[in-house]
Amino acid sequence: MDKRINVAVLVSGGGTNLQALIDYEKDGKLNSGKIVKVISSKAGAFALERAKNANIDSAVVEKKGKTQAEFESGIIAELDKCNAEVIVLAGFMCILSKDFTDRYKERILNVHPSLIPSFCGEGFYGLKVHEAALGYGVKVTGATVHFVNEIPDGGKIIMQKAVEIKEGDTPEVLQKRVMQEAEWKILPASLEKVCSSILKGE
Ligand code: GAR
Repeated sequence: MDKRINVAVLVSGGGTNLQALIDYEKDGKLNSGKIVKVISSKAGAFALERAKNANIDSAVVEKKGKTQAEFESGIIAELDKCNAEVIVLAGFMCILSKDFTDRYKERILNVHPSLIPSFCGEGFYGLKVHEAALGYGVKVTGATVHFVNEIPDGGKIIMQKAVEIKEGDTPEVLQKRVMQEAEWKILPASLEKVCSSILKGE
């Protein structure tokens, strides 16, 4: 049997990392997984368009007006509907509780746009991460894919890739380079690695 792991991708914004995952699967490289659903914490996120264009089922679960427990129950209901076995946070800008992360131990992956443990944790997301790296004056940054636990950006590292900082970089320019050279490569590769290990029973 050609068993593949059901993967749900959680997003909040533009979804370029989601696109990298979609393209990787389209190119026949996601041998051990299958993207079955995209869940957005924001209605109108462009990532939802990307899901639609790729014929992937999607849902919106917003945080606004809900307790953390209600928000997470909403996500779990969507994950259960599609029998998701692995969850990818791809530009998902909400913190998840210990109850949630314990439920999917070593089954949630996140991509973070720095070399953890630098420029990570609560408050470090999106462009803020690159502003902090440039502000500190580091010469090398990069991206990290890690498992998600109750500590923001604190779970076991799966893959990292370094990216050079160049003279005159702005946060926007650096963000683009980190995405192109690191995030869009190591996120799909990490997903395949994790799904393949699960199938092998590791
Ligand atoms: C990406 O750079 C991702 O690493 C970052 O937000 C961006 C989302 O872009 N995530 C975080 O900062 C999480 N802490 P995308 O929606 O185009 O994939």
